Amino acid sequence: MSSLPTCSLQYDVSLQALNTFGVAARAAMLARVSDIGDLQALLSQKHFANLPRLILGGGSNILFTRDFDGLVLLPEFRGMAITHEDGDRVHVRAGAGESWDALVRWSLAQGLCGLENLALIPGHVGAAPIQNIGAYGVEFAEVCASVEIHDIALGTTRLLSREQCGFAYRQSIFKTPEAANWIVTAVDIALTRQARLRLDYAGLREQLHAQDITTPTATEVADAVTQLRLRKLPNPALIGNAGSFFKNPIVTNTVAKQLQLQHPALPAWPMPDGQKKLSAAWLIESCGFKGLRDGDAGVSSQHALVLVNHGAASGAQLWALAQRIQAGVQQQFGVQLLPEPMVI
Ligand code: EPU
Repeated sequence: MSSLPTCSLQYDVSLQALNTFGVAARAAMLARVSDIGDLQALLSQKHFANLPRLILGGGSNILFTRDFDGLVLLPEFRGMAITHEDGDRVHVRAGAGESWDALVRWSLAQGLCGLENLALIPGHVGAAPIQNIGAYGVEFAEVCASVEIHDIALGTTRLLSREQCGFAYRQSIFKTPEAANWIVTAVDIALTRQARLRLDYAGLREQLHAQDITTPTATEVADAVTQLRLRKLPNPALIGNAGSFFKNPIVTNTVAKQLQLQHPALPAWPMPDGQKKLSAAWLIESCGFKGLRDGDAGVSSQHALVLVNHGAASGAQLWALAQRIQAGVQQQFGVQLLPEPMVI
């Protein structure tokens, strides 16, 4: 077995600092990847090629309930640059290993608009297309021009158009078996120089109003989103968490109507296909789970949709709590909650 000069390979590595839940878990092997050639060279060795693989970005959307007995790949592809302009559309290429919020702030500093509502989302650029990150009325899908992937099995790199990415609410082709051998290396984002601000989210308008801002700039919107997130969501730098632990459940219009007859306060938003998206946070809070603590595993008292690690919770304890919440919501409302982060 030979290690490679630039694809730094480590054995028996702690993942605790590499997941924002801060749970203790270990990886049998871990390689930081900043060069596709190095990765291919590593995987051309049979021993490595046959190992279970896990691609880890900022670790902000994953829960380890056990050690990972395989090879963890940490993409470290760097770079943020304007590649070309097409009228008012300005294309930005960003490497998968860049911090998402750093990209948002960098784009605003270039005078580019489009990412302001997505400020302060934890994680790396490469994770943005995987779960189609979204907040305050905007999803990654809306700014995505294409995603560059490398197919480890074929040894080829190619671009997927936005349509090929199959984006939907917290969903994309990257979560399907078709993508099993893909690693996202970069994204191409289409932004604009002319601001087209998206202020349809009531909480965002209220935040701007509270700051006495009537005609905001894109940077002021990003600042308002940052303030909102800091106030409404537990900060992973201070308390271990992975943001929303469940997706907002999507149900038929008929089911939503029945539930709202019984629970008029239940928030529900129309989906493009006529179905309804329900507030998982409201369902969880109504079951009395908000602020609950079982050992060091807990439900945030700030936001019912966020599970938190008060200190030394294991991934298994957090997962047990998540399952208890799922069962409670299922029993009380007949609605199935699905986890948003990847559960290992
Ligand atoms: N609510 C409660 N209890 C709570 C919190 C919220 O009942 O403890 C109700 C309120 O009625 C509120 C509604 O839930 O009006 C919606 O809450 P919020 O605006 O915080 O949005 P969310 O649907 O809970 C989603 C995303 C967040 C994103 C926000 C803002 C998902 C799974 N989550 O949360 O994304 O920041 O909207 O756009 O779609 C993430 O994915 O990790 C994440 C934080």
